[in-house]
Amino acid sequence: MQIIIFDNAEQVAENAAQWVSELIRNKDKPVLGLATGSTPISLYKQLVNKHKNEGLSFNHVSSFNLDEYHNINADNAQSYRSFMKDHLFDHVDINQSNTYLPTCSNSQNPREQGVSYEKKIQELGGIDLQILGIGANGHIGFNEPTSSLASRTRIKTLTQQTLTDNSRLFNEGEEQPTMAMTMGIATIMDARYVLLMATGKNKAKAVNDMITGALSAMCPASALQMHENAVILLDKEAASDLADHQYYQWADQQHRKINETYGFYHNY
Ligand code: PGA
Repeated sequence: MQIIIFDNAEQVAENAAQWVSELIRNKDKPVLGLATGSTPISLYKQLVNKHKNEGLSFNHVSSFNLDEYHNINADNAQSYRSFMKDHLFDHVDINQSNTYLPTCSNSQNPREQGVSYEKKIQELGGIDLQILGIGANGHIGFNEPTSSLASRTRIKTLTQQTLTDNSRLFNEGEEQPTMAMTMGIATIMDARYVLLMATGKNKAKAVNDMITGALSAMCPASALQMHENAVILLDKEAASDLADHQYYQWADQQHRKINETYGFYHNY
């Protein structure tokens, strides 16, 4: 894992935006893996700014979102399709027919929907860079604790903690879905790079478990210990439970020197 600790959340977002723009400026048909939630909002703001002010084009980009609520209409304000339109898709030149979310309505078979999402990802050549947040319980996507580390896109029942964490996003009287379709942990592990962003004190324990804990289905993000190219972007608060703070900062400085000497290396 490459662990990079920044002073604040804004710097985390700036760095994540550099990773994304590096990919989409340099690859003919880049495939992005996208996430919803509070954390990536500032990343999407940066990307919209880069599109408006620096000519960053998304017209050749395809994207796959990590998850979507079960049986929700795309035009429902709570759908992750609406979230992505509000924060990114409607503000850049991406062709929205090349943007995919793992949808499933009551009339569809969730198992078939999961398999066809996996197939579509393969058809487009696999995900180059997967953006991730992390839940306070260590989930990635909606892979809650005890999710199989070999899981693929499927329907999941959300934990009480996730429902409580997300209830802030629902207005009174609005129905909060309790099930979602999510990429599996193996789907995420297939991405060529994963870029996990975590900010704020409430993520400190999950971040520490992910990086220094046992590889365990109880902390789904710990699977990233087995990923060849996992980059973890943290602000100081999210990094505050890590004992080896100084080592990570030192290693990052050394890494930067290597990049300055040999160029920024990636293997998309
Ligand atoms: P958050 O969610 O960015 O809203 O904290 C992250 C997650 O649950 O994966």
